Amino acid sequence: MQISHYLYQFRYDDSERALSRLESKYLFNREEKNKLLISDIKTEPSSSAFIKNRLDIIAFSDDYAVLIDEIKNKKIFDDRYKVEYLVLHGDKTEYAERLKKINETGCCIDGVAEYYSPATIYAICRFDGIWYFGILIKGHLLWQKHKNKPRSCSNSISMSIAKALVNIATRSNKACTLLDACCGVGTIMLEACVAGYAVEGCDINWKMCVDARKNIAHYNYTAKVYRSDIKDMDTQYDVAIIDLPYNLFSNASETEMAHIVESAYKIADRLLIISAPDISAIIRNTGVRITDYCSVGKNGKTTFSRNIWVCEKTG
Ligand SMILES: C[S@@+](CC[C@H](N)C(=O)[O-])C[C@H]1O[C@@H](n2cnc3c(N)ncnc32)[C@H](O)[C@@H]1O
Repeated sequence: MQISHYLYQFRYDDSERALSRLESKYLFNREEKNKLLISDIKTEPSSSAFIKNRLDIIAFSDDYAVLIDEIKNKKIFDDRYKVEYLVLHGDKTEYAERLKKINETGCCIDGVAEYYSPATIYAICRFDGIWYFGILIKGHLLWQKHKNKPRSCSNSISMSIAKALVNIATRSNKACTLLDACCGVGTIMLEACVAGYAVEGCDINWKMCVDARKNIAHYNYTAKVYRSDIKDMDTQYDVAIIDLPYNLFSNASETEMAHIVESAYKIADRLLIISAPDISAIIRNTGVRITDYCSVGKNGKTTFSRNIWVCEKTG
């Protein structure tokens, strides 16, 4: 049987499902399903807000007894290890049986079990009728340090959406250059910076620019923020992410939104457009081709949602 090397487990609430799927499509060339995805592509779990764990598969079988023999044959030695059981979608194994399997798997590993500070966490799980054993890499929440940024704004985008936007925009290509075209306090820029991308931002509002610069400096990142109307930007970028103004604080008419999209279109090959109102007709009128779309709820708690369009240049 052909097998991929990594099993990813996702975590999100219902309102984020569409965004998580769209992000996985750009990270893995395939959408996750039931919060699971098996792939040959290796990515750090914390590169996405929605990836909970990655299992680096060592052995697998549709027969549990065969899997146990395979693990024994690997002659694994580890002087500080722990075994966990991952309960995945569709796995009905009872708690007592899971404990038994953790124990049986642990007995296949030479060395010393260490519950509280293991050097390696191994895991066993069952998915689609196949048993898997491997090394478990948990997503850490270090990226959430941006929660404590010194400046924020009521219409800032959430960090998890910002992180997904950066992944969708770049497809993990570290050479990709990015413009945060209506950067506000720089939420998207921070996620691009921590992921190591060359990003610049612009905003028409001087206060927003001051705040974005303060946030970027706070984390010792280097990224330029231009106080500029998007129409006056002339550098070329691979992708522009445009979180359009949407409320009383930074309202924009349909004409202004069209003007922002058209201006970004001139200086970027791809656009990611985010807007509370449905502006798909405005986007199409500018001549940009919409290639993907999803809608995401704000923090998963309110009915407020944001529309996200992935767009390419036509012709
Ligand atoms: C929804 S907010 C962006 C929020 C931002 N993503 C954040 O997380 O802080 C929209 C921003 O677009 C800016 N803006 C409006 N018209 C603009 C234009 N023509 N060029 C550049 N920025 C513009 C506003 O000043 C506002 O800060």
